[in-house]
Amino acid sequence: MKKILITGGAGYIGSHTAVELLKAGFEPIILDDFSNSQSSVIERLAEIIGKDVVCYEGDCNDKGTLEKIYSEHKFVGVIHFAAFKAVGESTVEPLKYYRNNVGSLIVLLDFMKEKGVKNIVFSSSCTVYGQPDKLPVTESTPRKDAESPYGNTKKICEDILVDFVKSKAGIKVISLRYFNPVGAHPSGKIGELPNGTPNNLVPYVTQTAAGIREKITVFGDDYDTVDGSCVRDFIHVMDLADAHVKALGYLNEQNDDFYDVFNVGTGNGNTVLEIIKTFEKVNRIKLNYSIGPRRVGDVVKIWADTTKINSVLGWYPQYTLEDSLRDSWNWQKNLVN
Ligand SMILES: NC(=O)c1ccc[n+]([C@@H]2O[C@H](COP(=O)([O-])OP(=O)(O)OC[C@H]3O[C@@H](n4cnc5c(N)ncnc54)[C@H](O)[C@@H]3O)[C@@H](O)[C@H]2O)c1
Repeated sequence: MKKILITGGAGYIGSHTAVELLKAGFEPIILDDFSNSQSSVIERLAEIIGKDVVCYEGDCNDKGTLEKIYSEHKFVGVIHFAAFKAVGESTVEPLKYYRNNVGSLIVLLDFMKEKGVKNIVFSSSCTVYGQPDKLPVTESTPRKDAESPYGNTKKICEDILVDFVKSKAGIKVISLRYFNPVGAHPSGKIGELPNGTPNNLVPYVTQTAAGIREKITVFGDDYDTVDGSCVRDFIHVMDLADAHVKALGYLNEQNDDFYDVFNVGTGNGNTVLEIIKTFEKVNRIKLNYSIGPRRVGDVVKIWADTTKINSVLGWYPQYTLEDSLRDSWNWQKNLVN
């Protein structure tokens, strides 16, 4: 079984990707410092997979930790999820974000070059497009100035990867630009586990449904969209996980010094109000929500053109928005009980 290092593998997207990797015949080796996840995720993963998962607790900024893991598991590729991701916090503590998100990529690339580990899939984000002029966004839609230090770390990391490949370091890279991951593993054993107040809509919705939050505020209903609320492209986390497996397979077929970038979304936009109403309908729950003022810096509407990932990687989403919202609620209920 080919081993793949998953940095941040105990986190939301990383843990679901570990499941999909194993299904596809890879062995995931997780490295996580649990700064934004819990060690119980590793036990839950083992329950889903039916065997123990290799996990190292450590910081991927530390080359010594990478050395130790490599000496025990000769991984042939890396999926680099580990990063801080709270947009608001990044504006208050930008150095924390640059140090972890940019610093860890540099340490990792250095290490990969030294050991001859060739394949890396990087977690980028649709945030690099900012407020796009034309929709849907393709991979060649111009990137805009980042709205936050967090967003900037994603742009900088993409640029570092491009330059590193150009330097003939012998490495093969795919950056995946995620749109809005939602949902949870259908078993309800793993899912998104935000620390404190959720930054993302769906955990806010599920926590409100569970009575943990009093109500949801919809930030603006007077935008130029079907119902006035903002539009996003919500992608089930299991589909997103599968995109990583497809990306690794594709990297395997490429020659050295390869770089490419793919959008990972459904190709459809849904409004915030549509999410609330669909959640209510699918789960037969009434949500307490109200309309508030617009939020500074919010992108009004964005969704992906997925032509490239469909045709090049042969990747298509399998889950519907209804599946996502059902699975998210199922996961939240398991957390409460
Ligand atoms: N969730 C989203 O909405 C979204 C959207 C676009 C891009 N992304 C990117 O995808 C990646 C994964 O996101 P997620 O939602 O799973 O986040 P997450 O916080 O759930 O997972 C990240 C994991 O990385 C770990 N980590 C952080 N710094 C580390 C370090 N230095 N060493 C070891 N482990 C470390 C955390 O403990 C956590 O388990 C991130 O790079 C994020 O920026 C996420």
